Amino acid sequence: MNSFFGRLAIAGIVATTAWTGGAFAQSTEVKIAYALARDSHYGAAADAWDKYVTETSGGRFKFTHFPSSAQGGEREVIEGLQLGTGVQAVVVSSGALSNFVPEIGVTDIPFLFRDLAHARAVLDGPVGQDILAKFQDRQLIALAWGEQGFRHITNNRQPIEKPEDLAGLKIRTMENPVHIAAFETAGAAPTPMSWPEVIPALQQGAIDGQENPLSVIVSAKLWEVQKYLTVSGHVYSPAMLIVSPTFWDSLSDEDKKLFADGATKGKEAMRAFVDQSEKNGIETAKKNGMQVNELSDAQKAEFQKAIQAAYDGYYETYGKDLVDSIVATK
Ligand code: PAF
Repeated sequence: MNSFFGRLAIAGIVATTAWTGGAFAQSTEVKIAYALARDSHYGAAADAWDKYVTETSGGRFKFTHFPSSAQGGEREVIEGLQLGTGVQAVVVSSGALSNFVPEIGVTDIPFLFRDLAHARAVLDGPVGQDILAKFQDRQLIALAWGEQGFRHITNNRQPIEKPEDLAGLKIRTMENPVHIAAFETAGAAPTPMSWPEVIPALQQGAIDGQENPLSVIVSAKLWEVQKYLTVSGHVYSPAMLIVSPTFWDSLSDEDKKLFADGATKGKEAMRAFVDQSEKNGIETAKKNGMQVNELSDAQKAEFQKAIQAAYDGYYETYGKDLVDSIVATK
């Protein structure tokens, strides 16, 4: 094997020969991994990305999907991407990414974004684009911001109506220092773990609850293992469409643009899916037997007050000016 093809093979980039429309054509396989099912917001992003690249390239690229954490938890998948030993593309939450690109953690601060429009304006604007650019220095090529929606609490103990209801609650969080600090400050017992372990841990009663957006609650049918849903919207949950640097470096400039434009299509599809989930998710959860309580603005203010002490740490880490400029974005 000559050294160029050797390098591509090590990176898992495989060119296959396919019979297309009367001629043999080379197609390069693009393995794409994500944590949830193909019919989730993650699948919607991956499908739109796949469709755009496959069609626009005339079939020179062929995506193979690994949904539902088939390649492991998000942290492992990102590590494989960085080293060039795993898949070529991922759609992941910001949760695990803080461990690789700490600057992204600013987007995980609770009660930072007013609504989806605010979050999208910040991520599509200079703050979001600056964070995307930081990924390159950490051996990751982040092409677009996707999203999951606002995170809410589910649990098997009781409806969460006031901060005291969180006392001692064994709540699974992502492996994300910003989220862990918030729940600790509120008096809960945050238990960080990777997503593939969550459903078994809920089934076995090792944890009482977890927190995720409606898009995830519905896609993962969390009513099968959780009784109460508190619509807390305590934090916005961004996601990202990323490719490995090894794969990126193997692309021509024209194909880099193709993948970047495809990632934008993925972002749009993911946002459209989340818009629908935010509209229908609560009804779907209720229909499936979850007992739902929605926090009023006054109740949310109580929770924000309860985690006030965590903000000192956030300001120290990310800079109060940056946080203030995000809050002030229209
Ligand atoms: O809670 C998480 O870990 C994430 O929100 C999930 C469900 C894996 C989607 O990225």
